Amino acid sequence: MGKEVIKVRGGRTLSGEVEISGAKNSAVALIPASLMAEKGEVVLEGLPEISDVETLMSLLNDLNIKTDLEGTVLKINAEEAENMPLPNTKVQSLRASYYMMGAMLARFKKCVIGLPGGCPLGPRPIDQHIKGFEALGAKVTNEHGAMYLVAEELKGAKIFFDVVSVGATINLMIAASCAKGRTVLENVAKEPEIVDVASLLNNMGADVRGAGTDTIKINGVEELHGTTHNIIPDRIEAGTYMIAGAAAGDSFTVRNIIPTHMESLTAKLEELGVKIEIGDDYATITKPDEYRPVSVKTQVYPGFATDLQQPLTPLLFKADGVSKITETIYPARFRHVDELNRMDGKIEQKGGSALIYPSELKGADVYASDLRAGACLLISGLLADGVTTIHNVNHIDRGYTDIVKKLDTLGADIWREEISAD
Ligand code: EPU
Repeated sequence: MGKEVIKVRGGRTLSGEVEISGAKNSAVALIPASLMAEKGEVVLEGLPEISDVETLMSLLNDLNIKTDLEGTVLKINAEEAENMPLPNTKVQSLRASYYMMGAMLARFKKCVIGLPGGCPLGPRPIDQHIKGFEALGAKVTNEHGAMYLVAEELKGAKIFFDVVSVGATINLMIAASCAKGRTVLENVAKEPEIVDVASLLNNMGADVRGAGTDTIKINGVEELHGTTHNIIPDRIEAGTYMIAGAAAGDSFTVRNIIPTHMESLTAKLEELGVKIEIGDDYATITKPDEYRPVSVKTQVYPGFATDLQQPLTPLLFKADGVSKITETIYPARFRHVDELNRMDGKIEQKGGSALIYPSELKGADVYASDLRAGACLLISGLLADGVTTIHNVNHIDRGYTDIVKKLDTLGADIWREEISAD
């Protein structure tokens, strides 16, 4: 069987409207959390149509949980869930499989699962997740590459995280929902996806307070039940399109956004010279004639998102001076740099920073090493002279709903093609 590539011929102006899908990094936590509903059905509305959602559904099916996906609505019935060890291959295809640990521990008091995979962004330890589970009373061991988590009972505890982690915050919020007594999580992450997961848990009967602040307090409950939940829009997908609009847009509207989630990006685009009109749930963008160079430092929310530094990079080639990106969350998240060099992009990585010099990009064959590197290459392709062929598009399909179709509708010259496997 052949492999797919995405091809894009640069130089088109993009205009019209694009509708943002539900948030990937919320969906991948909401689906595992749903397995905790012992009675009734959890209905998740507005899910993104991405392969990570399918992988997580399949993991639920392995636990005898019924799932029914129609378009963007997923119904999950976990009344007859059975605890089973979860196989390595599926678990390793995405990072968020670690949320199965918190949810299974809460529901079954036991979980056997392979180590999570996900995008290669340098070291991605899960020590803070484990520290948290242990504080709740679980015994955690790693045997032959599988994690064993077992607890006689989960008991509320006070946990101060050593690093601010999205995953550890969500995982502990999930696990502590059904622990006995009160849990206090301190030095937690504040990303909007955390607030979204807390709201699902509360609608399922949990008592979680303070999500979105530095401290989350959870009063454990006996049991959770079904509910209907509408997911928040994907601020990283929205940001990716806003950057595409800033690079090549003329009256380019990004719809279904929560503008406050976009503030650090909006401010940076304005600093670059991009014209943005913000409405209640949309942004309209027109590219400027000239761009100013900027410095960007990634930070935890509400700072500039690490997930958007790779997509932003191609835009900086257009500035009339040298720009700098400093990555503080994943200092090794620079695997797109070599690919941009192949496109004649002058970019130098030094430690956790990259310097980006004014360059005219040229189409080339490039390889997506991870999801956001893939988005970076797509935007580079929109700007480049000639055709860019992006390989390893499976990374892109993990996180962006119909990206080729959406860009095509906006006027990009973009298509998928099958190539022979060798
Ligand atoms: N960290 C630890 N120990 C831990 C957990 C994290 O040292 O136990 C460190 C990490 O190595 C990193 C920092 O803490 O340096 C932050 O990591 P975090 O745990 O917040 O990342 P994550 O939860 O694994 C999520 C998103 C990522 C996004 C990061 C940061 C999901 C499934 N993934 O990862 O999204 O980059 O938060 O915002 O929610 C993406 O969508 O492309 C993506 C990689």
